[in-house]
Amino acid sequence: MTPEGAALLEAEALTTEILSLDGDPTFGEYLGGACVTCHQTSGHSDGIPAIVGLPTDYTVQALVEYKLGLRENPVMRLMTERLSNEEIAALAEWLGTMDVD
Ligand code: HEC
Repeated sequence: MTPEGAALLEAEALTTEILSLDGDPTFGEYLGGACVTCHQTSGHSDGIPAIVGLPTDYTVQALVEYKLGLRENPVMRLMTERLSNEEIAALAEWLGTMDVD
């Protein structure tokens, strides 16, 4: 298997594992203080993509892809590399509960 193939399988397995957790949106909101300096809480994008209201599975997969380096963005790599599975689940749950105004 190619390294890329192995990384894709790892991302898929990790995404599934995180989605099986019960993310705590209150904890997610607390952690999200570090995200809203760049991403707007209004849900509008301004150069930086909107993340508010994204489906939980989409957010988890995106964060896993940054964490594992499948998505190459240095800022998001740095933001995600130290997040635990519980923290990713909490952030995704919180973002999914927020409304776009
Ligand atoms: C320093 C600015 C900055 C911070 C802080 C930041 N992000 Fe990002 N984020 C970005 C940029 C820029 C992108 C687009 C990167 C790309 O092109 O892949 C992005 C992309 C994303 C995406 C992918 C959106 C999509 O639709 O593809 C998600 C999800 C995300 N960020 C979540 C978070 C979370 C959760 C946090 C807090 C833990 C966070 N970000 C902190 C700048 C930031």
